[in-house]
Amino acid sequence: MATESSAPLRVLSGIQPTGRFHWGNYFGAIRQYIELQSAGDAYYFIADLHALTTVREPARLRALVHDAAVDLVALGLDPDRATLFVQSDVPEVTELTWLLMTVTPMGLLERCHAYKDKKTRGVAADAGLFTYPVLMSADILAYDATVVPVGEDQVQHIEVCRDLAGTFNHLYGDVFILPRPRLVEAGARVPGTDGQKMSKSYDNTLDVFEDPAAQKKKIMRITTDSRPMDQPKDPLGDHLFDLFALVATDEEREAMADLYRRGGFGYGEVKKALVEAAARFFAGARARRAELERDPARIEAILAAGAARARAQAGAVLDRARRACGLARGASTAPPTAPRGHAAAQPGRTGPGATR
Ligand code: ADP
Ligand code: TRP
Repeated sequence: MATESSAPLRVLSGIQPTGRFHWGNYFGAIRQYIELQSAGDAYYFIADLHALTTVREPARLRALVHDAAVDLVALGLDPDRATLFVQSDVPEVTELTWLLMTVTPMGLLERCHAYKDKKTRGVAADAGLFTYPVLMSADILAYDATVVPVGEDQVQHIEVCRDLAGTFNHLYGDVFILPRPRLVEAGARVPGTDGQKMSKSYDNTLDVFEDPAAQKKKIMRITTDSRPMDQPKDPLGDHLFDLFALVATDEEREAMADLYRRGGFGYGEVKKALVEAAARFFAGARARRAELERDPARIEAILAAGAARARAQAGAVLDRARRACGLARGASTAPPTAPRGHAAAQPGRTGPGATR
Protein backbone atom coordinates (compact mmCIF):
# COMPACT_ATOMS: atom_id res chain seq x y z
CA MET A 1 0.00 0.00 0.00
CA ALA A 2 1.31 3.45 -0.87
CA THR A 3 2.73 5.70 1.82
CA GLU A 4 1.75 9.35 2.07
CA SER A 5 4.79 10.59 0.21
CA SER A 6 4.67 8.02 -2.59
CA ALA A 7 0.89 8.22 -3.10
CA PRO A 8 -0.29 10.13 -6.17
CA LEU A 9 -1.95 13.48 -5.53
CA ARG A 10 -5.57 12.86 -4.56
CA VAL A 11 -7.45 15.99 -3.62
CA LEU A 12 -10.64 15.84 -1.57
CA SER A 13 -12.86 18.33 0.15
CA GLY A 14 -16.41 18.67 1.37
CA ILE A 15 -18.60 21.68 1.86
CA GLN A 16 -21.75 21.94 3.92
CA PRO A 17 -24.93 22.97 2.13
CA THR A 18 -26.16 25.12 5.00
CA GLY A 19 -26.94 28.30 3.07
CA ARG A 20 -25.84 30.25 0.06
CA PHE A 21 -22.07 30.40 -0.37
CA HIS A 22 -20.43 33.61 0.75
CA TRP A 23 -17.10 35.14 -0.18
CA GLY A 24 -15.42 33.43 2.78
CA ASN A 25 -16.49 30.06 1.42
CA TYR A 26 -15.40 30.96 -2.09
CA PHE A 27 -12.02 32.57 -1.41
CA GLY A 28 -11.26 30.33 1.59
CA ALA A 29 -12.28 27.02 0.09
CA ILE A 30 -14.13 26.72 -3.23
CA ARG A 31 -11.56 28.64 -5.29
CA GLN A 32 -8.90 26.17 -4.18
CA TYR A 33 -11.05 23.20 -5.11
CA ILE A 34 -11.36 24.57 -8.57
CA GLU A 35 -7.67 25.33 -8.95
CA LEU A 36 -6.71 21.88 -7.68
CA GLN A 37 -8.96 19.93 -10.00
CA SER A 38 -6.32 20.25 -12.71
CA ALA A 39 -3.44 19.32 -10.36
CA GLY A 40 -4.54 15.76 -9.67
CA ASP A 41 -7.37 13.38 -9.12
CA ALA A 42 -10.04 15.35 -7.26
CA TYR A 43 -13.12 14.43 -5.20
CA TYR A 44 -15.51 17.10 -3.96
CA PHE A 45 -18.71 16.49 -2.11
CA ILE A 46 -21.65 18.27 -0.57
CA ALA A 47 -21.67 17.35 3.12
CA ASP A 48 -25.39 16.76 3.71
CA LEU A 49 -24.79 14.32 6.59
CA HIS A 50 -22.85 17.00 8.43
CA ALA A 51 -25.57 19.52 7.62
CA LEU A 52 -28.16 17.28 9.31
CA THR A 53 -26.83 18.48 12.67
CA THR A 54 -28.15 21.97 11.84
CA VAL A 55 -30.75 21.77 9.04
CA ARG A 56 -33.88 20.05 10.32
CA GLU A 57 -36.31 20.68 7.46
CA PRO A 58 -36.13 17.91 4.80
CA ALA A 59 -37.35 20.01 1.86
CA ARG A 60 -34.91 22.78 2.72
CA LEU A 61 -32.02 20.32 2.98
CA ARG A 62 -32.85 18.89 -0.45
CA ALA A 63 -33.01 22.36 -1.97
CA LEU A 64 -29.75 23.40 -0.31
CA VAL A 65 -27.94 20.33 -1.64
CA HIS A 66 -29.16 20.99 -5.18
CA ASP A 67 -28.30 24.69 -4.98
CA ALA A 68 -24.83 23.92 -3.64
CA ALA A 69 -24.17 21.64 -6.62
CA VAL A 70 -25.40 24.31 -9.05
CA ASP A 71 -23.23 26.94 -7.36
CA LEU A 72 -20.11 24.78 -7.44
CA VAL A 73 -20.46 23.92 -11.11
CA ALA A 74 -21.26 27.55 -11.95
CA LEU A 75 -18.13 28.65 -10.10
CA GLY A 76 -15.98 26.39 -12.26
CA LEU A 77 -15.99 22.96 -10.70
CA ASP A 78 -15.71 20.76 -13.76
CA PRO A 79 -17.49 17.40 -13.39
CA ASP A 80 -15.41 16.00 -16.26
CA ARG A 81 -12.24 16.62 -14.30
CA ALA A 82 -13.36 16.26 -10.69
CA THR A 83 -15.76 13.81 -9.06
CA LEU A 84 -18.64 15.85 -7.62
CA PHE A 85 -21.07 13.99 -5.38
CA VAL A 86 -23.35 14.13 -2.36
CA GLN A 87 -21.93 12.72 0.91
CA SER A 88 -24.99 10.63 1.80
CA ASP A 89 -24.93 8.90 -1.60
CA VAL A 90 -21.92 6.95 -0.34
CA PRO A 91 -23.12 4.84 2.63
CA GLU A 92 -19.69 3.16 2.81
CA VAL A 93 -18.49 6.31 4.56
CA THR A 94 -20.92 5.94 7.46
CA GLU A 95 -19.76 2.36 8.02
CA LEU A 96 -16.17 3.51 7.98
CA THR A 97 -17.14 6.17 10.53
CA TRP A 98 -18.05 3.41 12.97
CA LEU A 99 -14.74 1.62 12.50
CA LEU A 100 -12.93 4.88 13.24
CA MET A 101 -15.20 5.64 16.19
CA THR A 102 -13.86 2.54 17.93
CA VAL A 103 -10.35 4.05 17.95
CA THR A 104 -11.40 7.60 18.84
CA PRO A 105 -10.52 8.82 22.34
CA MET A 106 -13.31 10.90 23.94
CA GLY A 107 -10.73 13.48 25.03
CA LEU A 108 -9.74 14.13 21.41
CA LEU A 109 -13.32 15.03 20.45
CA GLU A 110 -13.83 17.07 23.63
CA ARG A 111 -11.01 19.33 22.47
CA CYS A 112 -12.56 20.01 19.04
CA HIS A 113 -13.72 23.61 18.46
CA ALA A 114 -17.24 23.09 17.14
CA TYR A 115 -18.26 21.04 20.16
CA LYS A 116 -16.18 22.99 22.70
CA ASP A 117 -17.60 26.34 21.53
CA LYS A 118 -21.19 25.13 21.89
CA LYS A 119 -20.47 23.71 25.30
CA THR A 120 -18.82 26.94 26.46
CA ARG A 121 -21.89 28.87 25.29
CA GLY A 122 -24.07 26.50 27.30
CA VAL A 123 -25.83 25.18 24.17
CA ALA A 124 -26.84 21.51 24.27
CA ALA A 125 -24.84 19.50 21.72
CA ASP A 126 -25.99 16.24 20.16
CA ALA A 127 -23.76 13.25 19.52
CA GLY A 128 -23.79 14.16 15.81
CA LEU A 129 -21.97 17.38 16.56
CA PHE A 130 -19.66 15.67 19.06
CA THR A 131 -18.63 12.95 16.61
CA TYR A 132 -18.63 15.26 13.58
CA PRO A 133 -14.81 15.10 13.22
CA VAL A 134 -14.97 11.28 12.99
CA LEU A 135 -17.42 11.41 10.09
CA MET A 136 -15.17 14.01 8.50
CA SER A 137 -12.18 11.71 8.98
CA ALA A 138 -14.04 8.87 7.27
CA ASP A 139 -14.92 11.27 4.42
CA ILE A 140 -11.25 11.89 3.85
CA LEU A 141 -9.84 8.40 4.41
CA ALA A 142 -12.49 6.66 2.28
CA TYR A 143 -11.02 8.23 -0.84
CA ASP A 144 -7.30 7.79 -0.03
CA ALA A 145 -7.04 11.57 -0.11
CA THR A 146 -3.55 13.02 0.16
CA VAL A 147 -4.44 16.73 0.14
CA VAL A 148 -7.48 18.39 1.72
CA PRO A 149 -8.01 22.03 0.75
CA VAL A 150 -9.86 23.86 3.54
CA GLY A 151 -10.12 27.09 5.47
CA GLU A 152 -8.23 27.67 8.68
CA ASP A 153 -11.07 26.52 10.94
CA GLN A 154 -11.01 23.00 9.52
CA VAL A 155 -7.32 22.29 10.06
CA GLN A 156 -7.95 20.88 13.53
CA HIS A 157 -10.33 18.31 12.04
CA ILE A 158 -7.68 17.15 9.60
CA GLU A 159 -5.30 16.70 12.50
CA VAL A 160 -7.96 14.52 14.15
CA CYS A 161 -8.19 12.55 10.91
CA ARG A 162 -4.43 11.98 10.82
CA ASP A 163 -4.51 10.96 14.45
CA LEU A 164 -7.29 8.39 13.94
CA ALA A 165 -5.74 7.03 10.74
CA GLY A 166 -2.41 6.69 12.53
CA THR A 167 -3.99 4.79 15.43
CA PHE A 168 -5.90 2.49 13.09
CA ASN A 169 -2.77 1.83 11.03
CA HIS A 170 -0.80 1.18 14.20
CA LEU A 171 -3.34 -1.38 15.38
CA TYR A 172 -4.19 -3.07 12.10
CA GLY A 173 -1.44 -2.40 9.56
CA ASP A 174 -1.09 0.03 6.69
CA VAL A 175 -4.73 0.69 5.83
CA PHE A 176 -5.10 4.46 5.49
CA ILE A 177 -3.13 7.21 3.80
CA LEU A 178 -2.51 10.20 6.09
CA PRO A 179 -3.77 13.42 4.43
CA ARG A 180 -2.38 16.93 4.62
CA PRO A 181 -4.47 20.11 4.91
CA ARG A 182 -3.88 22.82 2.33
CA LEU A 183 -4.57 26.48 3.11
CA VAL A 184 -4.59 29.49 0.84
CA GLU A 185 -3.06 32.31 2.88
CA ALA A 186 -4.62 35.22 0.99
CA GLY A 187 -8.12 33.91 1.45
CA ALA A 188 -7.56 32.10 4.72
CA ARG A 189 -9.59 34.60 6.70
CA VAL A 190 -11.98 36.67 4.62
CA PRO A 191 -13.40 39.54 6.68
CA GLY A 192 -17.13 40.18 6.85
CA THR A 193 -18.90 43.51 6.37
CA ASP A 194 -18.27 44.29 10.07
CA GLY A 195 -14.56 43.39 9.99
CA GLN A 196 -14.96 40.15 11.96
CA LYS A 197 -14.39 36.85 10.14
CA MET A 198 -17.07 36.48 7.46
CA SER A 199 -19.54 33.84 8.63
CA LYS A 200 -23.21 32.95 8.30
CA SER A 201 -23.34 32.93 12.09
CA TYR A 202 -22.33 36.61 12.31
CA ASP A 203 -24.76 37.84 9.66
CA ASN A 204 -21.92 39.77 8.00
CA THR A 205 -21.65 37.95 4.68
CA LEU A 206 -21.44 39.02 1.06
CA ASP A 207 -22.91 36.11 -0.86
CA VAL A 208 -21.50 34.97 -4.17
CA PHE A 209 -24.83 34.85 -6.02
CA GLU A 210 -26.65 37.54 -4.08
CA ASP A 211 -29.05 39.83 -5.87
CA PRO A 212 -26.81 42.72 -7.08
CA ALA A 213 -29.02 45.46 -5.63
CA ALA A 214 -29.12 43.76 -2.20
CA GLN A 215 -25.38 43.26 -2.30
CA LYS A 216 -24.77 46.87 -3.20
CA LYS A 217 -26.78 47.94 -0.16
CA LYS A 218 -24.71 45.68 2.09
CA ILE A 219 -21.47 47.00 0.65
CA MET A 220 -22.53 50.63 1.07
CA ARG A 221 -23.22 49.84 4.75
CA ILE A 222 -19.83 48.22 5.44
CA THR A 223 -18.50 49.62 8.71
CA THR A 224 -15.42 51.81 8.42
CA ASP A 225 -13.34 53.63 11.01
CA SER A 226 -14.18 57.22 11.90
CA ARG A 227 -10.83 58.60 10.80
CA PRO A 228 -11.37 60.99 7.88
CA MET A 229 -10.18 59.56 4.57
CA ASP A 230 -8.27 62.71 3.74
CA GLN A 231 -5.65 61.44 6.14
CA PRO A 232 -3.25 58.80 4.84
CA LYS A 233 -4.15 55.31 5.92
CA ASP A 234 -2.49 51.94 5.83
CA PRO A 235 -4.49 49.63 3.55
CA LEU A 236 -3.13 46.57 5.33
CA GLY A 237 -5.65 45.21 7.80
CA ASP A 238 -8.48 47.48 6.55
CA HIS A 239 -11.37 45.10 5.88
CA LEU A 240 -12.90 47.24 3.13
CA PHE A 241 -9.55 47.22 1.34
CA ASP A 242 -9.15 43.48 1.95
CA LEU A 243 -12.54 42.77 0.39
CA PHE A 244 -11.71 44.96 -2.59
CA ALA A 245 -8.36 43.21 -3.03
CA LEU A 246 -10.13 39.86 -3.40
CA VAL A 247 -12.15 40.89 -6.46
CA ALA A 248 -9.99 43.61 -8.02
CA THR A 249 -7.31 43.15 -10.65
CA ASP A 250 -3.67 43.49 -9.49
CA GLU A 251 -3.48 46.96 -11.00
CA GLU A 252 -6.67 48.13 -9.35
CA ARG A 253 -5.48 46.79 -6.03
CA GLU A 254 -2.16 48.62 -6.28
CA ALA A 255 -3.88 51.84 -7.33
CA MET A 256 -6.28 51.56 -4.40
CA ALA A 257 -3.43 50.87 -1.97
CA ASP A 258 -1.72 54.07 -3.24
CA LEU A 259 -4.91 56.06 -2.71
CA TYR A 260 -5.13 54.79 0.86
CA ARG A 261 -1.55 55.77 1.56
CA ARG A 262 -1.99 59.22 -0.02
CA GLY A 263 -5.37 59.91 1.57
CA GLY A 264 -7.76 62.50 0.18
CA PHE A 265 -10.90 60.61 -0.80
CA GLY A 266 -13.95 59.04 0.86
CA TYR A 267 -14.88 55.49 1.80
CA GLY A 268 -17.95 55.88 -0.45
CA GLU A 269 -15.68 55.79 -3.47
CA VAL A 270 -13.94 52.65 -2.25
CA LYS A 271 -17.32 51.01 -1.71
CA LYS A 272 -18.48 51.91 -5.21
CA ALA A 273 -15.28 50.48 -6.64
CA LEU A 274 -15.92 47.34 -4.61
CA VAL A 275 -19.49 47.00 -5.98
CA GLU A 276 -18.18 47.27 -9.53
CA ALA A 277 -15.24 44.93 -9.09
CA ALA A 278 -17.44 42.31 -7.41
CA ALA A 279 -20.04 42.43 -10.18
CA ARG A 280 -17.33 41.96 -12.81
CA PHE A 281 -15.50 39.23 -10.87
CA PHE A 282 -18.57 37.00 -10.53
CA ALA A 283 -20.32 37.88 -13.83
CA GLY A 284 -19.28 34.69 -15.66
CA ALA A 285 -20.31 32.44 -12.79
CA ARG A 286 -23.64 34.24 -12.50
CA ALA A 287 -24.37 33.64 -16.19
CA ARG A 288 -23.43 29.94 -15.92
CA ARG A 289 -25.62 29.62 -12.85
CA ALA A 290 -28.65 31.03 -14.68
CA GLU A 291 -28.09 28.51 -17.46
CA LEU A 292 -27.74 25.55 -15.07
CA GLU A 293 -30.85 26.55 -13.19
CA ARG A 294 -32.85 26.07 -16.35
CA ASP A 295 -31.69 22.43 -16.53
CA PRO A 296 -32.02 20.71 -13.11
CA ALA A 297 -31.75 17.22 -14.64
CA ARG A 298 -28.23 18.02 -15.77
CA ILE A 299 -27.08 18.64 -12.19
CA GLU A 300 -28.77 15.46 -10.99
CA ALA A 301 -26.99 13.49 -13.72
CA ILE A 302 -23.65 14.98 -12.70
CA LEU A 303 -24.29 13.99 -9.06
CA ALA A 304 -25.37 10.46 -9.98
CA ALA A 305 -22.24 9.89 -12.06
CA GLY A 306 -20.11 11.34 -9.26
CA ALA A 307 -21.75 9.07 -6.67
CA ALA A 308 -21.02 5.99 -8.76
CA ARG A 309 -17.34 6.87 -9.03
CA ALA A 310 -17.12 7.81 -5.35
CA ARG A 311 -18.79 4.59 -4.19
CA ALA A 312 -16.41 2.43 -6.14
CA GLN A 313 -13.46 4.15 -4.47
CA ALA A 314 -14.93 4.24 -0.94
CA GLY A 315 -15.99 0.58 -1.26
CA ALA A 316 -12.41 -0.48 -1.94
CA VAL A 317 -11.08 1.40 1.09
CA LEU A 318 -13.86 0.16 3.37
CA ASP A 319 -13.09 -3.36 2.24
CA ARG A 320 -9.43 -2.87 3.15
CA ALA A 321 -10.39 -1.54 6.59
CA ARG A 322 -12.91 -4.32 7.29
CA ARG A 323 -10.41 -7.00 6.39
CA ALA A 324 -7.66 -5.40 8.42
CA CYS A 325 -9.67 -5.25 11.64
CA GLY A 326 -11.14 -8.73 11.35
CA LEU A 327 -14.69 -8.03 10.16
CA ALA A 328 -14.46 -9.76 6.81
CA ARG A 329 -14.43 -13.55 7.25
CA GLY A 330 -11.81 -15.39 5.24
CA ALA A 331 -9.82 -12.17 5.05
CA SER A 332 -6.45 -13.81 5.22
CA THR A 333 -6.97 -15.74 1.99
CA ALA A 334 -8.67 -13.07 -0.10
CA PRO A 335 -6.70 -10.43 -1.99
CA PRO A 336 -6.59 -7.27 0.19
CA THR A 337 -7.87 -4.87 -2.45
CA ALA A 338 -10.70 -6.96 -3.93
CA PRO A 339 -13.90 -4.96 -3.39
CA ARG A 340 -16.64 -6.77 -1.53
CA GLY A 341 -19.79 -7.44 -3.49
CA HIS A 342 -21.86 -4.61 -2.10
CA ALA A 343 -19.19 -2.04 -2.78
CA ALA A 344 -18.46 -2.91 -6.36
CA ALA A 345 -21.90 -3.98 -7.47
CA GLN A 346 -24.37 -1.43 -8.67
CA PRO A 347 -22.70 1.73 -7.50
CA GLY A 348 -25.05 4.64 -7.96
CA ARG A 349 -27.72 6.55 -6.23
CA THR A 350 -29.00 3.74 -4.06
CA GLY A 351 -28.05 5.45 -0.80
CA PRO A 352 -30.25 7.67 1.35
CA GLY A 353 -29.88 10.46 -1.21
CA ALA A 354 -31.48 8.39 -3.96
CA THR A 355 -34.99 9.54 -3.22
CA ARG A 356 -34.11 13.17 -3.67
P1 ADP B 1 -19.72 29.72 8.02
O1 ADP B 1 -18.69 30.23 9.01
O2 ADP B 1 -20.35 30.83 7.27
O3 ADP B 1 -20.73 28.79 8.66
P2 ADP B 1 -18.61 27.31 6.94
O4 ADP B 1 -18.13 26.93 8.29
O5 ADP B 1 -19.76 26.57 6.36
O6 ADP B 1 -18.92 28.88 6.94
O7 ADP B 1 -17.37 27.24 5.94
C1 ADP B 1 -17.23 26.40 4.82
C2 ADP B 1 -15.84 26.49 4.26
O8 ADP B 1 -15.50 27.85 3.94
C3 ADP B 1 -14.78 26.02 5.24
O9 ADP B 1 -13.75 25.32 4.57
C4 ADP B 1 -14.25 27.29 5.84
O10 ADP B 1 -12.97 27.15 6.30
C5 ADP B 1 -14.36 28.28 4.69
N1 ADP B 1 -14.64 29.62 5.23
C6 ADP B 1 -15.77 30.01 5.84
N2 ADP B 1 -15.71 31.31 6.22
C7 ADP B 1 -14.47 31.74 5.86
C8 ADP B 1 -13.79 32.99 5.96
N3 ADP B 1 -14.36 34.06 6.50
N4 ADP B 1 -12.55 33.07 5.48
C9 ADP B 1 -11.97 32.01 4.89
N5 ADP B 1 -12.55 30.79 4.75
C10 ADP B 1 -13.80 30.65 5.23
N1 TRP C 1 -16.53 20.11 8.08
C1 TRP C 1 -16.37 20.82 6.83
C2 TRP C 1 -16.91 22.23 6.97
O1 TRP C 1 -17.77 22.49 7.77
C3 TRP C 1 -17.05 20.09 5.70
C4 TRP C 1 -16.49 18.73 5.51
C5 TRP C 1 -17.09 17.55 5.82
C6 TRP C 1 -15.20 18.42 4.98
N2 TRP C 1 -16.29 16.52 5.51
C7 TRP C 1 -15.12 17.00 5.00
C8 TRP C 1 -14.14 19.20 4.51
C9 TRP C 1 -13.96 16.34 4.57
C10 TRP C 1 -12.99 18.53 4.07
C11 TRP C 1 -12.91 17.14 4.11
O2 TRP C 1 -16.49 23.08 6.24
